[in-house]
Amino acid sequence: MAIDPSGEFAPILPGRGASDYERYLRTDELLALEKRPEERAHRDELLFQTVHQSSELWLQLAAAEVEGATATVGEGEIRPALRLLRRAALCLQLITRQLDMLEQLSPWEYTRHIRPVLGHGSGFDSPGFGAARRVSPALGDGFHRLRRARGLSLVEVYREGGDLYDLAEALTEWDERLSAWRLRHFQVVARIIGDEVVGTQGTPVQLLGGLVKNRLYPELWQVRNELTELAKGEA
Ligand code: HEM
Repeated sequence: MAIDPSGEFAPILPGRGASDYERYLRTDELLALEKRPEERAHRDELLFQTVHQSSELWLQLAAAEVEGATATVGEGEIRPALRLLRRAALCLQLITRQLDMLEQLSPWEYTRHIRPVLGHGSGFDSPGFGAARRVSPALGDGFHRLRRARGLSLVEVYREGGDLYDLAEALTEWDERLSAWRLRHFQVVARIIGDEVVGTQGTPVQLLGGLVKNRLYPELWQVRNELTELAKGEA
């Protein structure tokens, strides 16, 4: 519905756009970030850019929420951190799910028309994924500082339960979601360009498969092995 510029709902926010909706969300700029139809090497560039650009937005939010959680953990506050970490994990779930959309690309059309216009563009240079990885170690450090302040080993945290256990599981969830994204991304890459080729920066695609095993908090996975052993000893 067109807005009457002198009417009751005329925009009151500064900026471009016919309505406050467009001004607040800066939809003019947002929707100009994708190539226009006449600029596209192939019509599916819109799909390709939409999935990548929206992934960058969700990753930006995820990293901000992890940073926020780290700050509250630094103040000894676990409950607000859990809330933010739930959101961060959900961001990763959303971008993992939307990778499905890329499987709508034809491998031939992608390789023939889209890949040549990407230059040296590589996911290794993704600011969002880089940020998600960069903010993660400080969260782990914050958790361990709290744990040590209470004089607990990781095994004790897991045996006793409580709020530190909840935090450890939220970190595990974040870690798991990141590698679930990597696994799904690897599957999509294998389906679109193959798993015996090299990427736009010369990285063998097989290497991506290996990264799936990378863990942010290996100790939180190791403790499960210890618990299994311990339980055997106590049986
Ligand atoms: C047709 C779809 C896609 C293909 C063919 C593809 C291909 C690749 C390849 C070959 C690599 C290895 C590095 C290189 O040589 O460039 C890579 C890495 C990466 N890609 Fe993609 N990609 C696709 C979609 C996406 C999407 C939607 C994202 C979302 C942000 C993304 C983010 C990344 C990231 C973050 C890495 C580094 C992974 C890591 O460090 O584990 N890719 N991609």
